[in-house]
Amino acid sequence: MFKKVDLYYPTKEIKNKAWVKDKKIYKDAERNPIKFWEDLAKEIFWFKKWKKTFVHKPPSFQWFVEGKINITSNIFEKNSLGWEKIKNKTALIWEPEPTNEKERKLTYDELFREVNKFANALKRLGVRKGDRVGIYLPMIPEVIISMLACARIGAIHSVVFSAFSSSALKIRLQDTEAKVLITADGYWRRGKIIDLKKNADEGIKQTKVKKVIVVQRAKNEISWQKNKDFWWQDLIEKESVQCEPRIMDSEDTLFILYTSGSTGKPKGTVHTCGGYTVQAKWTGKWIFDLHHDDIMWCTADVGWVTGHTYGVYSPLLNGIPTLIYEGSPDWPAPDRWAKIIEKHKVTIFYTAPTAIRMFKKYGTEFIKKYKFNSLRILGSVGEPIDEAAWNWYFKKVGKGKCPILDTWWQTETGGILITSLPGIGPFKPCFTGLPLPGLKFDILDEKGKSLPPNKEGNLVLLPPFSPGLLRGIYKNPKKYLETYWSEYGKKVYFTSDAAYKNKQGLIRIVGRVDDVIKVAGHRFTTGELENAISKLSSVSECAVIGIPDEIKGETPIVFVVLKKEKSIEETKKELIGQLRKEIGPIASPKQVYLVEDLPKTRSGKIMRRILKRLLAKEKLGDLSTLANPESIKDIKKVVKVR
Ligand code: WT7
Repeated sequence: MFKKVDLYYPTKEIKNKAWVKDKKIYKDAERNPIKFWEDLAKEIFWFKKWKKTFVHKPPSFQWFVEGKINITSNIFEKNSLGWEKIKNKTALIWEPEPTNEKERKLTYDELFREVNKFANALKRLGVRKGDRVGIYLPMIPEVIISMLACARIGAIHSVVFSAFSSSALKIRLQDTEAKVLITADGYWRRGKIIDLKKNADEGIKQTKVKKVIVVQRAKNEISWQKNKDFWWQDLIEKESVQCEPRIMDSEDTLFILYTSGSTGKPKGTVHTCGGYTVQAKWTGKWIFDLHHDDIMWCTADVGWVTGHTYGVYSPLLNGIPTLIYEGSPDWPAPDRWAKIIEKHKVTIFYTAPTAIRMFKKYGTEFIKKYKFNSLRILGSVGEPIDEAAWNWYFKKVGKGKCPILDTWWQTETGGILITSLPGIGPFKPCFTGLPLPGLKFDILDEKGKSLPPNKEGNLVLLPPFSPGLLRGIYKNPKKYLETYWSEYGKKVYFTSDAAYKNKQGLIRIVGRVDDVIKVAGHRFTTGELENAISKLSSVSECAVIGIPDEIKGETPIVFVVLKKEKSIEETKKELIGQLRKEIGPIASPKQVYLVEDLPKTRSGKIMRRILKRLLAKEKLGDLSTLANPESIKDIKKVVKVR
């Protein structure tokens, strides 16, 4: 890329190759966004064309109404690149964590056969269209096969991040009422085997799960219950390699994925077959400029939406190989990821700022010997990328030639919505870029007035939104309305992010306006962490806040009031253990403070803002609304600030 003041533009090489290089596209799309998406949808295979492109009955909206589709047909037999052209091409590259184990590669045809076999097996177990299937698998090929097999037969997949605890799994399974769970015996992480089956067995208690399908991965010893547990291998053994795709309605649900927000309980975001397919296909193709010879590595776990869209659906819809890696980024050495990029000649690399910051901390020596000649485009997602991390990524990984796409989106949006396009630019550190063509974003003040450049406000998305935007929160229309369609009325999608734009229209994301914190890119609400802690009988009350962290972006800090006196060491141990048990190791707090009281308003609301400012050594501001200002003194003592 070349630099112009503090802006970067694509090199000739990048521009020449790019699918999209003419700025005119923004104007064209703006004129008629519905037609814009409609034209893109025409390049997708539909069993039956839709009747209406966009229907809006606020807050509900639909895309490609009455269209009939199956996302797996668009990946396999009806892939827009032509089945004959791609069937012998690599679809999936799997890199195991142990370095003495061989990678596994599947061609499109091989993947298709595996998907069909497993789809038939699911049918034989009684899984029907619309049934929810829980997937609790590590990063192994079977996680992708499972998702696609569900989609093939119209079952709704709900993937649960494998590092989530059994309690986190249970809450999600209870909400979806899944009857089948797919899991594995174990997997490798930092040289050790993680016993996943044990968690799965614990997690399905008090749920409707009757059948558990187990992939043999780590060959660790596991407990087994006849008539409940089934080996994956046994199930697929005699199944046919053909399975007719279930013809789905555009607005049928493709998957439910849980995320955190607004309350303690995770919300199941509902994504549909039609709109999601169109958006996944085109955002991937245009943003990562996917061509037939590309190899994409999206480092996100499939348990998150990034893994769903850019680790699975988008690369496959575009007929290119997707790479997945089982283990820890720096195992057995900091250059593990670098090695994988070189070994498989990855061209498109998509990761999170937290990973970049971690590698940056390892210095430059370990990465020096890697030329990364294959890399063409780099992406970042999940949280704001600071300038230092941006520059490191740009220079040390991209060697100054790859555009860095800072991509903004959410679990709710299903795909990237804000980023400058690689063939057009501009790219500016700390700014995510321009909204994609056809999208109407605005930045509003509290009253709903549109703000001029450089004024911070709430980021909102206006009709016709995007085809992949969530259609609901599973079984909770009230929450859907409250969370997304209430701040500015039923016609405005409220992102919960604060942002501003510069004169050029480039958007800078400032951060969440709700109680969501991002820990190493993982999304939690302070409320759900507090809920987990409050379950302990020793706890009287608690407050969780996120504070800035050099590597993780943010990290949780716990303030706790106990019922009976206990040592801080003991309390810490108990709390950390509880958060690991209820949520998972990634929710571990950095610090636990034992306090006598928490600052509260007269109506009894805990003032987390004050705790945050205290730790940041900022002015506390107006304390007149506090019911118990004396609590501050003790807290100051405990956290050792004056
Ligand atoms: C929240 C959504 C869907 C991608 C993974 C995260 C923050 C996301 C960026 C970015 C600054 C970002 C926002 C958003 N976020 N991308 N490029 N720059 N902030 O999905 O877990 O649903 O979180 O992540 O705050 O609302 P998620």
